[in-house]
Amino acid sequence: MQLTKVIGHRGAASLAPENTLAAIKAAAASGVKWVEIDVSLIADGALVIFHDETLDRCSTGSGKLRAANLEYIASLDAGSWFSPDYEGEVIPTLTEALDCIQSLGLGLNLEIKHDDVDIDQIVPNVIKALQEQWQDNEKLIISSFNHAALVMCHEMDSSRHLGQLYESIPNNWQEQLADIDAFSLHCDYALLTESQANDIKQAGYKLLCYTINSVSLAEQHWRWGMDSVITDDPNVFMHLDK
Ligand code: G3P
Ligand code: MG
Repeated sequence: MQLTKVIGHRGAASLAPENTLAAIKAAAASGVKWVEIDVSLIADGALVIFHDETLDRCSTGSGKLRAANLEYIASLDAGSWFSPDYEGEVIPTLTEALDCIQSLGLGLNLEIKHDDVDIDQIVPNVIKALQEQWQDNEKLIISSFNHAALVMCHEMDSSRHLGQLYESIPNNWQEQLADIDAFSLHCDYALLTESQANDIKQAGYKLLCYTINSVSLAEQHWRWGMDSVITDDPNVFMHLDK
């Protein structure tokens, strides 16, 4: 696994509109080697890169993402909310994002969103897209807050590196990570304790923390054994990945 210390969050959410191709390109331009993006399922079964349950915050659309079809999604501007410089940026499909990420030589943490979606609708589509399109398994981690989604990923394609995502880490984390033969545990840095970090590292898992945007906030976590920081602004940490 070619995991690096710095991963751009939603591409590079401080530098360009999150989860767009512009954000992925801005991440690459910063020098970061990996990006995290969110994949969601929409009404017609298509997979798009978008974080929220509703379209309102990050596009010119409105209403539930899950209820939209691809024709509507493709008509939306997903850049001008961030800055007029990004007017015309669109919500990418998973296919477009995978193309862009691979053409830039980046690694990928693909987070499966399950809001309003049955996992047996989204997981097979994601696994199929990756099998058809993603070339280097050593540069891919699939993560999700939804443990059942990761169990399904593991059953469908046991070769994938899986990361269990948490906000605060539950007591049964060891059982959940064992279930999916996990590669990594991803958690909210602000809710992690030193003793949890010790246990995770001792159990042999990689530890990734989100979302840290300053060197000082990361210091303690590096001491605790954090392997990678997921950040909105990769520039802040690029001295670590040079
Ligand atoms: O994958 C880390 C992080 O992206 C999880 O939270 O809500 O930003 O997708 P969220
Ligand atoms: Mg995410």
